Amino acid sequence: MNFSPNLPDLERLARQAGQILRDNYEKDLQVEYKGVIDLVTHVDHLSEDFLLGEIARQFPDHQVMSEESGGADYGEHQWYIDPLDGTVNYAHGVPLFCVSIAYARRGQLVLGAIYDPMRDELFLGERGQGAWCNGRRLQVSQATSLEKSLLVTGFPYDTWYAKRNNFDYFVKFARMTQGVRRLGSAAIDLCYVAAGRFDGYWELSLKPWDVAAGGLIALEAGALVTNVDGHPGFIQPPQSILAANPNLHPLMLEHLKQ
Ligand code: IPD
Ligand code: CA
Ligand code: CA
Repeated sequence: MNFSPNLPDLERLARQAGQILRDNYEKDLQVEYKGVIDLVTHVDHLSEDFLLGEIARQFPDHQVMSEESGGADYGEHQWYIDPLDGTVNYAHGVPLFCVSIAYARRGQLVLGAIYDPMRDELFLGERGQGAWCNGRRLQVSQATSLEKSLLVTGFPYDTWYAKRNNFDYFVKFARMTQGVRRLGSAAIDLCYVAAGRFDGYWELSLKPWDVAAGGLIALEAGALVTNVDGHPGFIQPPQSILAANPNLHPLMLEHLKQ
């Protein structure tokens, strides 16, 4: 076997996993700590177990890399799963989180699905075909200056100690734009760039499951998506990401290089 999935396959999986997140939202949570501020709830595991089970059943020869179970990268048929992106929001009852699923064939991202169950927004992307939110085609914003832009960023779980933290860039961009948001879900950040809600997004250190689906969706909506050094590999280490409309990408890159 080794059939490739299609976009409706990813849509089904994302909606079903999203239903698990919604059904358990604001219910009793079992929380464990992976680091001082890096937590995981039993719902992350419920969602992930469901997705891993379904992919193993439908595509038994495919490789999966997922946040809570790890797994290999770079299989001929490779999946990237974040069963709950925005765990800290979820654990605090902030209704902004999603499930993120990507499929890559021979090292190239082909399909991406991100589902936000609280807003019932399903973001899809397919290489060469485009990106959509609830069936509506997505297109990045037209902003041409940082002064007229709204950006978004995020901070990793080693922020208390890491030397290469994001604080300086945050301050810098906050002083030259209409604002810099921090939503707490990298996957939603990327979808909002795709939808033109934000003009640009950057973050310095993420994992493949955080950016695979959202990176493809943003690309397919017309964004330029690279790492913060301008290289197209935004999944491979040393990982970082810059996704912005084509007018702003070079401007943001210039500031991130300094
Ligand atoms: C986190 C979120 C957050 C980003 C962190 C990620 P998680 O993922 O995407 O926005 O700033 O770096 O680790 O832990 O909620 O799946
Ligand atoms: Ca994540
Ligand atoms: Ca997660």
